[in-house]
Amino acid sequence: MKKLFFTLSALAVAGILTQSACTFKNEEDEYGVGCDTANVTLSATIRPILEQRCYACHSVANANTLGAGLDFQTYSAIKEFLDGSKDVFISAIRQEEVNGITASSMPKAEPRISTCEILKLEKWIANGYPDN
Ligand code: HEC
Repeated sequence: MKKLFFTLSALAVAGILTQSACTFKNEEDEYGVGCDTANVTLSATIRPILEQRCYACHSVANANTLGAGLDFQTYSAIKEFLDGSKDVFISAIRQEEVNGITASSMPKAEPRISTCEILKLEKWIANGYPDN
């Protein structure tokens, strides 16, 4: 009986440890803990995010059929969109209201990009979205 109790306690402790490890990972994603937004560039930081999560619909090739005509691959097209609709873009990727604007949640019908990816995109936009 004592041995069974010991085994159960050990299992419970192991369970708690595993659980907190998972919780930490989620917090990292949820709050962007440890996210490095220094030296964000279009080519090294932003493009890979867009390629992975947006170009299935918003590339030159797919924009008209799947991306509502929005091309986020051609730099001048990205710039033109952001010049007029920065808050729409940020609301779309945050999947929440921004400055009174609620855009369609992006990526469409898919989970949000990570908080760190959002912070990097916001930093690049705040920097004036340079073509770097
Ligand atoms: C599966 C296709 C698909 C993917 C992937 C996708 N989009 Fe979209 N996007 C659309 C469609 C379609 C629209 C038109 C609005 C709608 O149908 O909701 C749109 C609209 C938008 C808009 C305008 C929103 C508005 O309310 O006017 C922005 C900004 C946008 N997308 C950004 C992105 C970004 C950034 C990504 C990647 C993180 C992304 N999208 C991924 C299909 C997609």
